[in-house]
Amino acid sequence: MNQTETKAILDVHLQAFGSAEGPEIARLAKELLALPDTISISVRRGGTIAGNVLFTPFAFQNHPDAACYLLAPCGVLPGLQGQGVGKELMETSIGHLKSIGADAVFVLGVPGFYPRYGFAPTDKQTPYPDLLTLPASWMMLELKAGSAGPLNGRTLAVEPFMQPALWDTSAYG
Ligand SMILES: CC(C)(COP(=O)(O)OP(=O)(O)OC[C@H]1O[C@@H](n2cnc3c(N)ncnc32)[C@H](O)[C@@H]1OP(=O)(O)O)[C@@H](O)C(=O)NCCC(=O)NCCS
Repeated sequence: MNQTETKAILDVHLQAFGSAEGPEIARLAKELLALPDTISISVRRGGTIAGNVLFTPFAFQNHPDAACYLLAPCGVLPGLQGQGVGKELMETSIGHLKSIGADAVFVLGVPGFYPRYGFAPTDKQTPYPDLLTLPASWMMLELKAGSAGPLNGRTLAVEPFMQPALWDTSAYG
């Protein structure tokens, strides 16, 4: 990925998440983009990046062979929200993750958006289970039939995500 594309992706997240959260999410996205196993999916409108979503490996300590991912962040430029970019991001991403043989994908997010694409609340653990005060916001989409059932126990996200504040849902509205 060239520098122009990286900058455009970071700008999408900066703007999508607004002045309160945007700078921190853009910083996080920059760290994630620097990791070798991050999957970045963008949707363009009129030649420019309108939306982007990142996926990073999500590990179950008891199941080292499971191929799971964490979805975050997902953002669309404010001026282009509500026009199908988010839908295209999700459909393209899910198709890609299935094509590479991923087992399941997890997200901590808006309970109204992700269920449209098959995500449902899950009892699998976040890396900081005690901080999940809104269980409906922790969701999973199984990508390979039957693969998620056996998964249990302690989980680990990539290093930039291993901050308790990122998993504390008590501040959600
Ligand atoms: C959430 C977000 C990625 C959705 O992208 P988008 O391009 O606006 O979504 P789309 O236009 O493709 O909408 C797809 C569907 O989801 C719905 N939707 C969009 N945003 C939603 C939200 N925040 N909550 C619930 N539903 C939402 C739309 O109404 C639409 O439904 P429809 O197909 O029945 O009309 C985008 O609004 C965004 O970047 N928001 C700010 C950052 C953010 O909150 N990211 C998610 C953090 S978990």
